Amino acid sequence: MKESIVVLDYGSQYCQLIARRIRECHVYSQVISCNTTAEEISAMSPKGIILSGGPASVYDSGAPQLDPGILELGIPVLGICYGMQLLVKYNGGNVSTAPEREYGRALLQIKNSSRLFEGMEPEQTVWMSHGDKVTMEPECIETLAVTANCEFAACKLKGKELYGIQFHPEVVHSPNGIQVIRNFCLNICGCEGSWNMASFIEESVKKIRETVGKERVILGLSGGVDSSVAAALLHKAIGHQLTCIFVNNGLLRKNEAERVQDLFGRNLKMNLRYIDASDRFLEKLAGVDEPEKKRHVIGNEFINVFADAARSLDGVKYLAQGTTYPDVIESMSINGNPSAVIKSHHNVGGLPKDLKFELLEPLRMLFKDEVREVGRELGLPDEVILRQPFPGPGLGVRHLGAVTKRTLDLLRDADEIFVEEIKKAGLYFKVWQAFCVFLPVKTVGVMGDHRTYDYVVALRVVESQDGMTADWVNLPDALLRRVSSRIINEVPGLNRVVLDITSKPPSTIEWE
Ligand code: XMP
Repeated sequence: MKESIVVLDYGSQYCQLIARRIRECHVYSQVISCNTTAEEISAMSPKGIILSGGPASVYDSGAPQLDPGILELGIPVLGICYGMQLLVKYNGGNVSTAPEREYGRALLQIKNSSRLFEGMEPEQTVWMSHGDKVTMEPECIETLAVTANCEFAACKLKGKELYGIQFHPEVVHSPNGIQVIRNFCLNICGCEGSWNMASFIEESVKKIRETVGKERVILGLSGGVDSSVAAALLHKAIGHQLTCIFVNNGLLRKNEAERVQDLFGRNLKMNLRYIDASDRFLEKLAGVDEPEKKRHVIGNEFINVFADAARSLDGVKYLAQGTTYPDVIESMSINGNPSAVIKSHHNVGGLPKDLKFELLEPLRMLFKDEVREVGRELGLPDEVILRQPFPGPGLGVRHLGAVTKRTLDLLRDADEIFVEEIKKAGLYFKVWQAFCVFLPVKTVGVMGDHRTYDYVVALRVVESQDGMTADWVNLPDALLRRVSSRIINEVPGLNRVVLDITSKPPSTIEWE
């Protein structure tokens, strides 16, 4: 990486967002542990350092500290909130508990000109969230801005490129916060701002080739965004040294297996090993109706099938995974080493001990939207890049109770109709997920002059940012009517369609 800014993580909920905003300025950034030493940072040669906010008080025993050597590296530093308080503390200032916690919007008044606020109006709305504040600034520090409640809302060390701000420029409630970040990265740190996905691909391809050499790599392809983009990137770098393993667990959506084989095998000409293990999975799942048990059986069987496939390939040294940056950050504790732990459930966790692969995670530094951009640059179609999330256990968690081939087919047919109508209505890319759920209950109906006694499907459509919380979506009447009548007319075996109108919480998105 040519130029980068590192963000020291002091436990702020906004750390990822800071890194995200820096990347919006086309500067590569990464979040690192707040215990990183000056020597380690120096070895990374970043152009700038940001000290994040955090929940602690700088004088608390055990509060995360700063290697003071970091301030002597000659690299510009911006302390945000807790980061500013640390900066001031290490330069002889005072930090104390404010009589009232300041939380919410505040009017920032810029008092002294500086490169940090260059090109900005003298009054700015900013977002504050702090209990402690700087109360005494030593001689060596000059005040740059104030708010009504905070007389040191921004400051700078005289003669040094060390800045502190009490507000949060990274959140949307600080509308011009991005300008502060841009000023820091470009004006103060002197970054060019030339980082983009094309340069990421170029650098990654080079790095993958250097690492892999002539060795072979396998990757578990699910058809989802992350594994698809990882596959495309690795394929560009090492071509047929990569083998993708795609397992049909019998719980895929209609035509999904064909779609994946068409795109990756036939169009993109990847070395794709397609394993139809549907019978194996369905046998193991026969009669299993408890949701957690089902998940367990599906997860275990996947590992067995994947391991068998991996064993049948000779001389594979690397296992590639589509791990992304939020996975990495989520798994790093405030005092931990960012590279130490990876979420255990990620793709193919828990392979048997005889299979020892080295991990390759080419997307581990990218946010989801950056992964999508890489996919687009690599020529993957929108239907892959913007695909809605699909759970690992597949239709297993959308078919309540024990699955059978026949009832899974009913669900597949209904789901295909629903998603087709959602796409026609232009809603597919607007909602987080839209799918059908099979209910193993029979109800009475009448079709023509005949009594029917058939199964029920539910329609589930939600809006969400990250799947953690979700709202049900109010679909247009006409669309609901069309979907209902098509499902009943086109899928014999179903005679009732119901609508799920619960949000998460209290419900979950999937039904099992
Ligand atoms: P829930 O049902 O917990 O789902 O509200 C939240 C989001 O996660 C997806 N999901 C999964 N994804 N493996 C996955 O890769 C799983 O086991 C799994 N379970 C749920 C779900 O589709 C939703 O987007």
